[in-house]
Amino acid sequence: MLRITVLVSGGGTNLQAIIDALAAGEIRDAQIVRVISNNPNAYALTRAENAGIEAVCISPRTFDDREKFHEALIASIDEAGTDLIVLAGCMVVLPPELISKYSGRIINIHPALIPSFCGKGFYGLRVHEAALERGVKLTGATVHFVDEGTDTGPIILQKAVEVRDDDTPETLQRRVMEEAEWKIMPRAIDLIAQGKVSIQNGKVVIR
Ligand code: GAR
Repeated sequence: MLRITVLVSGGGTNLQAIIDALAAGEIRDAQIVRVISNNPNAYALTRAENAGIEAVCISPRTFDDREKFHEALIASIDEAGTDLIVLAGCMVVLPPELISKYSGRIINIHPALIPSFCGKGFYGLRVHEAALERGVKLTGATVHFVDEGTDTGPIILQKAVEVRDDDTPETLQRRVMEEAEWKIMPRAIDLIAQGKVSIQNGKVVIR
């Protein structure tokens, strides 16, 4: 049984998609053991509680410095007996110690087709604003492993979504979530839980 800790910061619709896919048997041999939010007001915490999952807030504001916050975050992830860390709308920059300790065991969902509209400063609605500003006809979402860079780790799954002429950042964000994010994140977790995902020469191979 793959033990998953989900890190969130906001609404938690991707967390909900994972919870629903587990309940529907679309993700097999896995369970969410803990949800951690840096933001005490994240609705994702309520979603976790509603599903009977342990939900904790570890806010940097309640620690004297960043180091203490990082220590508490790593301790909580360790204590949950985590096999896989899932970043589902997590807006915290992870400490390098965490990334190396859980190397190959952290995945993230990004709301664009990496390497477009990713890297520093590209998160949440900003990604969709940039896609509309550039006038791309296709965007989408990417699930990837997390390495030391920002959105630079090996890509696991991607799904394209059409951009419409009348899209606003909000309508595009919603469609990318519905058509891509909520599908490829559960799918990627199931593939990992089934032992089908490996990294070879820096690239993901799915068998
Ligand atoms: C999602 O669109 C996710 O792809 C994005 O934040 C949103 C969180 O929504 N993540 C990033 O931009 C990470 N760089 P949610 O809390 O409803 O899942």
